[in-house]
Parts: sequence; C-alpha cells; structure tokens
Amino acid sequence: MLKLRTIRSRMTITYVLLVAAVMILTGLFVLNKLENYHLAMEKENLERAGGLLVPHVATYLHEGAGPQRLNAAAAQFAQQVNARVIVVDNNHVVLGDSRAGELVGTSLARFEVEEALKGRTGQSIQYSTLSRQQVLQVAIPLIDQDGQQGALFFATSLNPLYGMLAAVRHFFIFATLVAMALTAALGGLFAHHLGGPIKELTAAARRMAAGHFEQKIPVTSRDEIGELADQFNVMSSSLKEMKKRLTRFVADVSHELRTPLASIHVCLQSLQHYDMKPEERQEFLQDINQETQRLIYLVEDLLELTRREEVADKREHVALGKLIEEVLSTSIPRATRKELKLFKELPDDLPHFNISPEAFKRVLFNVLDNAIKFTPAGGWLKVSAAKGQENVCITVQDTGHGIPEEELPLIFERFYRVDQARSRDLGGSGLGLAICKEIMELYGGTITVESQEEKGSTFYLAFPLRHAVAEEQLKNVTSGYNIERENPPARASIP
Ligand SMILES: Nc1ncnc2c1ncn2[C@@H]1O[C@H](COP(=O)(O)OP(=O)(O)O)[C@@H](O)[C@H]1O
Ligand SMILES: [Mg+2]
Repeated sequence: MLKLRTIRSRMTITYVLLVAAVMILTGLFVLNKLENYHLAMEKENLERAGGLLVPHVATYLHEGAGPQRLNAAAAQFAQQVNARVIVVDNNHVVLGDSRAGELVGTSLARFEVEEALKGRTGQSIQYSTLSRQQVLQVAIPLIDQDGQQGALFFATSLNPLYGMLAAVRHFFIFATLVAMALTAALGGLFAHHLGGPIKELTAAARRMAAGHFEQKIPVTSRDEIGELADQFNVMSSSLKEMKKRLTRFVADVSHELRTPLASIHVCLQSLQHYDMKPEERQEFLQDINQETQRLIYLVEDLLELTRREEVADKREHVALGKLIEEVLSTSIPRATRKELKLFKELPDDLPHFNISPEAFKRVLFNVLDNAIKFTPAGGWLKVSAAKGQENVCITVQDTGHGIPEEELPLIFERFYRVDQARSRDLGGSGLGLAICKEIMELYGGTITVESQEEKGSTFYLAFPLRHAVAEEQLKNVTSGYNIERENPPARASIP
C-alpha cells in the first residue's frame, strides 16, 4: 500500500508526473509540427503539380476539346498526383472530372473555386462524411495567354497523413507509459535507499528521546544522509558523555553534602539525647555552625558553577590593572590576619579587556584565596602581571604547602582536593579551580600551575591579547571597579 505521506511515495509520484508531463508536451509538440509540415507539403505538391497541368488543359480548351477528353486528361493526371482533379470554367460549371466525369455539367460553387476564379489559390481541409475521412481541397486559377479560363480543383485524401500521425501518437503513448513505469521503479528504488537510513535515524532518535543515548547508526554512504548519520553518532556520543558526567556530578555533590549533614545530624542527636555541661553544648553548637558554614560555601560555589556562563557574558571594557588592585585590596586583611606578606608587581601599561569584571575577579580571588589558605603563617605571596607577545599573564606565587606533581593536573577537576580533610577544614569545596578554569576557557585564556612540595606554588592566568581593547575603542571605559558591584564572597578561614 502506497502511503502518500512518505518521502518515498511523494518522490516517486513527483518523478512519474514529471516524466508524463514532459512526454505529453513533447508528443503534442511533435505531432503538431508533423501535421503542419505534411499539410503544407501536400498543398505545395498539389499546387506545383497543378501548375504543370494548367498549360495542357488550356491547350485542350483552346482546341475546343469535349468533356470526354478533359475527363481522360484529368483522370490520367489524378493518378499521378493521387487526387481527384476537376476542371471548371469561369462560371463554376464543371468541364471535366477525373472521377469518370461524375460532376460534368454541374456547378461547383465552392469557396476554394471562388478564390481561384479571383486569381488566388484557394484551399481548405474538410471532413467528408461520405467517405469518412479528412480531405484537402486546393483550387488554382486556370490562366492562359488569353486570360482566365476557369479553375483547376484538386481534392486529396489526408488518410495516409493522419494514419502516420496516429502511429506516431500511439508510439508516444506507449513510450510515455514505459517511461512512467521505469521512473516509478527507479524512483521507488532510489527513494527506498534514501528512506531506509532516514527510517533508521528516526528510530534511533526515538530511542534517544526515551533516554537511551548509546545509539550507533551505520554510515553506509558518503552523501548528505551519510553525513547526517555521522553527526548523529557524534551527538549520541556527546550525549552519552554528558549523561555520564551529570551522573558523576550529582554523585559528587551528594557526597559533598552528605558529610557536613551527617556531622550536623550527629551533633543534634547528641544535644537532644545527652545532658551536657554548657561548655560542651557550646562546642557542639560551634561544630554545627562550622558545618552549616561549609554547606553554605558549597552551595555558593555550586551556584557560581551554574552561573559562570551568564556572568562571563556580561562583558565590559575594563582596565586589568585596576581589577587586580581591587581583588588585592579585598584579600589584604585576610593575608594580614594570617601573618602573610603580600607583594605586588604590576606594570602601568596593562591593557584593557572586554571581559566581565565579576568573572575576572572571581578567578583571581579564587586563586589568591587558595594561596592564602594553603600558605602557613609567616610565608609570603606575590601577585605580578606582565604583557607578553600574545597574552597578558597574571602570576600568583605563594610559599605554601605545594602540590604533589602527580596531582597537578587533577586540582582543576571539580571537587578534587589534594588533602581532603585539610582542605575541607579550610572551608574549601574543591570547586574553586574548576570554576576558574571554565571561566578562563570561556575567554580563550588558560590557567596553569607550577608547584614544589613544601616550597610553594605558582599559578599563571593568561589572557589572550586578541581580546584586548584597542586604545581608540576606549571611549566609554568603566573605571574597572565599581563599588556598587557585588564583591566576591570574602571568606574568613574557619578556625
Ligand atoms: N596555592 C595552593 N597551594 C597548595 N595547594 C593548592 C593551592 N591551590 C589549590 N590547591 C589544591 O588544589 C585543590 C583544589 O583547589 P580549589 O578548587 O580552589 O578547591 P578548594 O575549595 O579546596 O580551595 C585544593 O583543595 C588544594 O588541595
Ligand atoms: Mg579554592
């Protein structure tokens, strides 16, 4: 059963109709041209032949020949040109008739004869009901040196011509039917080849919509459909990967939430069920407070993670130097509290960038926050910046615990902490550097690290200069920092 809604049937029907239309139009054109050409030929032949007969008939008339001689001459000529030949005088009276003198003596008052008697060629095509055929009639003037003597009338059957045209028509009809059948077969085959993979893609997409992302479509051709199947497979792989990452992320988040929640739960249970001295109670409440704070940090970081693209999109023309100064000024109190020395080395000619000031401050704040967190009291930190050939590099150096070499690539992963317990105690969620890396990548930049255990670490933030703003574009630059703007969350280390 042919379903009209399928591409296959639509394509096949379109092809078949197209072929039929082309064949029919060609057929009509060819038949028309053939008919016109042959009619013109027939008429011209009769006219030319008649022209040859005129002097003979004129001579007979001159000699005063009777109907019998004229009939015989007409009959002889009629055989040669395959037409009935009639001789009429100037009064339409038939003087001779090739068909055994049938009309001799009668008046042949026909339109064509009338034309011929006026000196012109008269012609017409008529359907003869008597002989049931189309007939071509031509009359030419019969003129000799004494002037017009009458007219010669010819009537010839068009049966052979129309017979030939009918044969051509039949051939066209047959050819059209064969062409339509072939087109239907070939079109159907082609559409089947096209429709097969599409059906397969549809089925796979349906399974994917139902949550089964691991779909693989065999790529059998190199055409557009093959390309579609190829891209479909790529999409399937990335969806599978995304699903895996999402599951892992949810598992990681749940794990991170569970530890402080479990501590809070234990503390609350103890407070509820045991009699305690006020100092002991205070200690438990302190623990609850600390774990709650940890949960708040975690949720804040999670929110930051989901909002990073939105934040990074709020681009402005900002002066990098001023932004760095701003982050430094918010970090100085904490560094001082931890008895850390903070040095800076910032050139005056740092360019302007078209970035989100909030996103930038988050990145630098996170890196600086880590440096402060992981450097023991008495150490020092140094923030410097330099403009290179291709980028501006901001360096944050510390004299802290350092990071084991094998763990260096891992610290940028979500929730990764070198020393789980210590980092957690310092209030870290393990999301800071992951957020930094993702923001830097959004700006086409990089964040890298060098570290030596027990000596210190150096983080490098490279911003590509191609995103810098040229001097002439700097008409409406914001000051780089706006007091009203939301500050990065300033976290005091948890004691
Ligand atoms: N300056 C640093 N010195 C030593 N270790 C660091 C430093 N910065 C980051 N780390 C390590 O990388 C881990 C990941 O950092 P981050 O993503 O910011 O998480 P956290 O929330 O713990 O700060 C930290 O837990 C720490 O172990
Ligand atoms: Mg951090």
